[in-house]
Amino acid sequence: MSLSVRQRRILADMGIPVWRARGPAPGHAGVAAVAANAPAVVEDSAPTPTVSEAVTPGTVEAPPQVAGVPVQALDWEGLEARVRACTACDELARERTRTVFGVGDRGARWLLVGEAPGAEEDRHGEPFVGRAGQLLDNMLQALGLDRSRDVFIANVLKCRPPGNRDPEPEEVRACRGFLDRQIELIQPEVIVALGRIAARELLDSDEPLGRLRGREHRYRGRPLIATFHPAYLLRKPGDKPRAWEDLLRARACLSSP
Ligand code: URA
Repeated sequence: MSLSVRQRRILADMGIPVWRARGPAPGHAGVAAVAANAPAVVEDSAPTPTVSEAVTPGTVEAPPQVAGVPVQALDWEGLEARVRACTACDELARERTRTVFGVGDRGARWLLVGEAPGAEEDRHGEPFVGRAGQLLDNMLQALGLDRSRDVFIANVLKCRPPGNRDPEPEEVRACRGFLDRQIELIQPEVIVALGRIAARELLDSDEPLGRLRGREHRYRGRPLIATFHPAYLLRKPGDKPRAWEDLLRARACLSSP
């Protein structure tokens, strides 16, 4: 992939040195050359394992059945309506302005999964529209991807936890069927878990994110890559090069570039 001026600027802004290959990039068509000795580690300083390891998620509770049809049988329209009408979590249903279903191409090869809507997402009904979303869009753009065309973006929770608190385990359980149905409908080639909460939930793991990064996992047979949450990267920009490595790892999971 040749990089546009804007993509180069984004990568430079992420602290990722990019150089022009003189000839064809050896064995890595489509992957921008990134300095191997990119600055590293602020938080999550667990060693980055390189060996692939499959993780099998645990059993997931049955999703809510509101109007007779189980969530697993809903089409996109039915699923979106079910999410919009959901009152499974009293507090979230009471406090939300809008549910945040997800955005993007419903047949995308990439699925990005965040944690839960924040205040701006709650207002707009779209995931990742705040500052963290801008950073995410920039990272996608550096990969030549656009949020509306090339990826689907969803969250573990479809409602905002008041005060941006962490989701409660029972909220995550109640919402899980919606995300699983989205995954079944999209059939993405790769899933990227953005941050600790999404990674731990999808991998049914309580390991720190630093131990889940750096290798390919499987979620129901699909490749899953765990990376930093964009909001974390806003606080710790020194980890952007490592996030970029994660995205390149995710791209390498695709059947074709
Ligand atoms: N953080 C998330 O995890 N998801 C969003 O949609 C916004 C911020």
